[in-house]
Amino acid sequence: MSKVVRVAVVGYGGMGGWHTKRLQEIPGVVELAGVYDIKPERNEAAEAVGIHAYASFEELLADKTVDIVTVAIPNDQHEPVCIRALEAGKLVISEKPVTMSTASLERMIAAANRTGSVFTVHQNRRWDEDFRIAKQIYESKQLGRVFAIESRVHGSRGIPGDWRNTKAQGGGMVLEWGVHMLD
Ligand SMILES: NC(=O)c1ccc[n+]([C@@H]2O[C@H](COP(=O)([O-])OP(=O)(O)OC[C@H]3O[C@@H](n4cnc5c(N)ncnc54)[C@H](O)[C@@H]3O)[C@@H](O)[C@H]2O)c1
Repeated sequence: MSKVVRVAVVGYGGMGGWHTKRLQEIPGVVELAGVYDIKPERNEAAEAVGIHAYASFEELLADKTVDIVTVAIPNDQHEPVCIRALEAGKLVISEKPVTMSTASLERMIAAANRTGSVFTVHQNRRWDEDFRIAKQIYESKQLGRVFAIESRVHGSRGIPGDWRNTKAQGGGMVLEWGVHMLD
C-alpha cells in the first residue's frame, strides 16, 4: 500500500484557503495535516471548518507526520519560512513569486541542497490551457520564428491594493503576475 502524503499549509489567507480545499479533494493520496497562520483569527477560521490549526509554526515543524509544507504567505516571508521548513526535514512548496531577489532565491536553493530535501515553486499557470496551447503551437513550428509575445493580464481581483502592491512585501504586478508571464 502506498503512503498517504501528509501536507501542512502555512498561511490561511486567500491562497492557503485554496490549498486546503484542493488538498482535501484527493483522499487516499494526500491528507491535510493542518494549517498555521500568524493571525489567531485565521487559525480560528480554519478550525471553524474542521481544519486542524497548529498553535505555532514550531509545532507544525515538529509534527513528524507532516511530509510536505506549502507556503502561502506574503512574498517577503517565503525565504525564512521555507528555509526553516527545509531544515526541519520537510519537502517544501513555496507560492510564487518564490522570493524577492535572486540572492534570496540562492539562499533558498542552498538550503534545499544542504538539507537534501525537495524545494519547488507553485508556478501553476504553466498548466493553464491558454499557456499550454501557445506552447504547443510554438513547439509544432506552425508559427515560424517567434519574435514577440503579447500577453495581457488584468488580475483576478484587479490591481492588488494590499501588501502585494508594496515594494517591501509584494513587488506589485511585476512579481504578482509577471512571474507567471516569464515562467
Ligand atoms: N499561484 C497562484 O495562482 C497564487 C494566487 C494568489 C496568491 N498567490 C501567492 O500566495 C501567497 C499568499 O497570497 P494570499 O493571496 O493568500 O495572501 P493573503 O493576504 O490572502 O493571505 C496571507 C496569509 O498569510 C498570513 N501570514 C503572514 N505572515 C505569516 C507568517 N510568517 N506565518 C504564517 N502566516 C503568515 C496572513 O495572516 C494571511 O492570513 C503570495 O505569495 C501570493 O503571491 C499565488
